[in-house]
Amino acid sequence: MLRSEIGSQITLSTRRHNLAARNGSRFLRACLRQPVDRTPVWFLRQAGRYMHEYRAVRSHHSLLEICRTPEIAAEVTITAAERLGVDAAIIFADLLLPLTPMGLDFEFVADEGPRVHAPIRTANQARALRTDRTDDLLYVARAIEKVAAHFISPRTDGDQLGIIGFCGAPFTLASYMIEGGSSRNYIETKKLMYGDSAALSAESQAWPILMEKLVTVLAEYAAQQVEAGADVIQVFDSWVGALSVSDYRQYALAPTTDLIARIRNLGVPVIYFGVDTASLLPAMSETGADVLGLDWRTPLDHAWRALNHSVAVQGNLDPIALFAPEAILQARVAEVLAAAAGRPGHIFNLGHGIVPNTPVDAVLAVVHQIKNSALASLR
Ligand code: CP3
Repeated sequence: MLRSEIGSQITLSTRRHNLAARNGSRFLRACLRQPVDRTPVWFLRQAGRYMHEYRAVRSHHSLLEICRTPEIAAEVTITAAERLGVDAAIIFADLLLPLTPMGLDFEFVADEGPRVHAPIRTANQARALRTDRTDDLLYVARAIEKVAAHFISPRTDGDQLGIIGFCGAPFTLASYMIEGGSSRNYIETKKLMYGDSAALSAESQAWPILMEKLVTVLAEYAAQQVEAGADVIQVFDSWVGALSVSDYRQYALAPTTDLIARIRNLGVPVIYFGVDTASLLPAMSETGADVLGLDWRTPLDHAWRALNHSVAVQGNLDPIALFAPEAILQARVAEVLAAAAGRPGHIFNLGHGIVPNTPVDAVLAVVHQIKNSALASLR
């Protein structure tokens, strides 16, 4: 047997263990809308600058160094999950990592965010993107293996911690590749997306080419993460709320559905998350995602009802409520729980990521409150 074959046998048996452990994980059960003993909780961006332990690691390493060194990425992931006592650990990585093997260089600029050096503006640039180097991202899978090994035994309460892998959705990742960084109005993204079909020029093909290449790379990247032990994959479509429902349906729904179907075929549930998505939620549910991540602007009960309770939901406390006085924070957490009404298929989370300077004690207080809230007696 070749060395690589022996390696894949080992990861396959690790994965079988994870599949077997599923029934003992309240996070996974909630993803599948099965009854749970209490609402599972984790936080978007739970490892980050608000946490002293992360800043200490970050003072010695760049963000990309942390992401690309499995020992450090695993340590950061594990430390955050254990410090907070949450029910799931999201692998420490970044949305933009797949850009490098696709042939787009980028950096993180202090106080500005990501900067792509040569953003995609033409069909020829899209054609030149590579889809054959996804193995360069295996450092993320190696980090997941370490996290999975660390959390292999159930915790003291008998629950198996969930391990979340993630990738960007085609629209949101494309927006970074085209704008070259964060954006307010997504003008370049939408120009490329609309194309120039009136002139039937070659440029009108840039968007479909870009979508196809992204789906190829992201599906393979997600497969690496599942093989390594991720129990669930979260697909971040953070900026999809910039689209109207018509544009979402015309330009983003099909490639996203394709990506999500490919990930679900690996045998894991998919959480599909975006911000400012109230009007998009019914279309987003057509992707076949098992769980939709809700932002905080729509009351959870309204959003879930609009989805006919046909999917699980994750959310949706305003991350800035973590800066509110204790009594207000408690009331807002209680409101989210009341809106979920104990229905199977709710995962407590924020409506978007924890921001820098968030008080860790407030995050801990939310975990404490969730753990001490009895499920409402809907069932
Ligand atoms: O535990 C965790 O949840 C953190 C892991 C994580 C990071 N990025 C590390 C990171 C995750 C899940 C991401 C995803 C990500 N990256 C998204 C989608 C998530 C969302 O919030 O909707 C996006 C849009 C990115 C791209 C990105 N990375 C931006 C725009 C920035 C700069 C903005 C900022 O907050 O500074 C980053 C940097 C980044 N990625 C940080 C972390 C912890 C902060 C920078 C640092 O440590 O230097």
